[in-house]
Amino acid sequence: MNQQLLFQQFTAYCKPIFDDSLNYGTLKTATEKLHQLFIEIGAINAYEQPINRKLLTNGEALSPQEGALCLFDIARTRTFARGLLQAIQQQKALQVNQPIEVLYAGCGPYGLLSLLVIPYLTEADVQFTLIDIFDSSIQSVKKIVEALGVGSFFKNFIVADATQYIPTQTFDILLTETMQQALKKEPQVAITHHLVHFIKPTGFLLPTQIDVYPVFENTSKRIAALMGNDDYDSNVDSYAHAPIITLNKENALRAQHSKNIYETSIHLHDVAYLKAPYQLQLQTHIHVFANEILTLNNAAITLGFQLMPAADLLGKQAIHFKYVINEMPGVQYCIA
Ligand SMILES: C[S@@+](CC[C@H](N)C(=O)[O-])C[C@H]1O[C@@H](n2cnc3c(N)ncnc32)[C@H](O)[C@@H]1O
Repeated sequence: MNQQLLFQQFTAYCKPIFDDSLNYGTLKTATEKLHQLFIEIGAINAYEQPINRKLLTNGEALSPQEGALCLFDIARTRTFARGLLQAIQQQKALQVNQPIEVLYAGCGPYGLLSLLVIPYLTEADVQFTLIDIFDSSIQSVKKIVEALGVGSFFKNFIVADATQYIPTQTFDILLTETMQQALKKEPQVAITHHLVHFIKPTGFLLPTQIDVYPVFENTSKRIAALMGNDDYDSNVDSYAHAPIITLNKENALRAQHSKNIYETSIHLHDVAYLKAPYQLQLQTHIHVFANEILTLNNAAITLGFQLMPAADLLGKQAIHFKYVINEMPGVQYCIA
């Protein structure tokens, strides 16, 4: 099939992602068709046996096949793509004469989020620089870009560790989705801390903010409500505490100079719900851009992460949390 026809087909499959009416059936079909189109072009197949992940000093990089599977986390893909499009359009309105420069770190084998917005933009609106740690992922993106004839939207394709790479320019937007629930395992925080220094003063992060906070939740009530058997009232069935980590531009810039910025404690003598069926869990809230938000259980990356039954904390003074960046980043806690 020629470039123009392929691009038309691709554009048709992108459309449900940007339709304001949310229809998961249509979206599921669209993502399956996108995947089929990508593999016909010769890109990495999400259903192939994954090859090894890469263990880095500040997080684990998923294998290219696992990176490809992210396409099917439909709410994630939709919310990020819609947020990115709005962010580019908003910045472009302020900067009419120059394209918006987007640095996309951890682009995976499809450069997915950048590709999805292209049907709605011109190369004068946006220029993408893509980084991934896997050469096979970058080769896979290049095949798609060439087949769709959208090379003019891309400035650079880089195989590098995004926590170390030193760009030769600054950017309007740093886009990265290298995360799991509660910001565990993958290097979203390390990548953001490093690359935030290459964002222009007027530029921003996408997602603009990620919060992970401890919540005591009546999980039986929530499950019953999900099954349609009960009501769930977050005012009485869940108690959220201050975030352990708030990852935004301001904190990422601050992290270079301040140690331990991601810490919090809960003093347990004030807590009235240390009893069954309350559970202590970590919840993740992702503010992608404007009204594009992912919250508890909207996507795989915002599933609640169970820590312990609240009753295990009876008789204790406090629980102290901190977010650590090492080979296996995430929230650690100690009970006093
Ligand atoms: C969760 S996948 C997301 C893929 C794509 N951004 C998407 O939204 O579909 C994360 C990607 O980040 C890449 N990655 C992880 N750590 C990295 C690092 N330190 N440097 C560059 N790429 C990295 C992985 O190879 C993988 O392709």
